Amino acid sequence: MQIRTARPADLPVLREIERAAGESFRAIGMAAIADDEPLSVEELGRYQRAGRAWVAAADAAPVAYLIAEPLDGCLHIEQVSVHPEQARQGVGRLLLARATEHARAAGLPALTLTTFAEVPWNGPYYRRCGFREVPVEELTPGLREVRRREAAHGLDRWPRVVMRVTCGEAPRGAT
Ligand SMILES: CC(C)(COP(=O)(O)OP(=O)(O)OC[C@H]1O[C@@H](n2cnc3c(N)ncnc32)[C@H](O)[C@@H]1OP(=O)(O)O)[C@@H](O)C(=O)NCCC(=O)NCCS
Repeated sequence: MQIRTARPADLPVLREIERAAGESFRAIGMAAIADDEPLSVEELGRYQRAGRAWVAAADAAPVAYLIAEPLDGCLHIEQVSVHPEQARQGVGRLLLARATEHARAAGLPALTLTTFAEVPWNGPYYRRCGFREVPVEELTPGLREVRRREAAHGLDRWPRVVMRVTCGEAPRGAT
């Protein structure tokens, strides 16, 4: 499995990965998340053009992706998705390791993300990857704004958390 930066031709495939990965939420009573429309090609293109979209590709076509952007001095993971057929093989960790390398090279000390606290492959998964919950009173203005937008989008029907890991404690790549 190779991790590389995303190309424009990958972007429609990323939407398909997102839809397929989202299906896992239907089985646990979170159909609204499964039905949430993936980011548009245009929105994904913004990350791709900035060099902050990475894909995992077994052959040519991506099977997983991660997009991120700097936020309040950290690298904020906007989305990680692995196609269910390729899940639980370490691909998510490889993508997190690549984002960590990017953060380190950019002089950013940590990664942040928001996720569902209780969904097994969300909060508990990121905890195993070294992330820790950021208490509400410690949220930076940008993270508070992310949370405000999520609440407005209806995501707070289920417990939601902000998590953070320093680059030193984040997953490392195979090299
Ligand atoms: C979360 C996700 C990115 C992890 O990627 P991955 O390549 O499967 O992760 P890894 O192989 O690095 O780690 C697998 C671990 O994730 C957790 N996990 C993944 N799928 C799981 C599931 N269906 N049920 C329980 N735990 C799960 C487990 O801890 C698993 O470890 P294990 O297989 O040893 O039990 C991927 O499962 C995914 O795309 N899920 C749907 C979309 C999503 O929730 N994205 C994150 C939104 S914030």
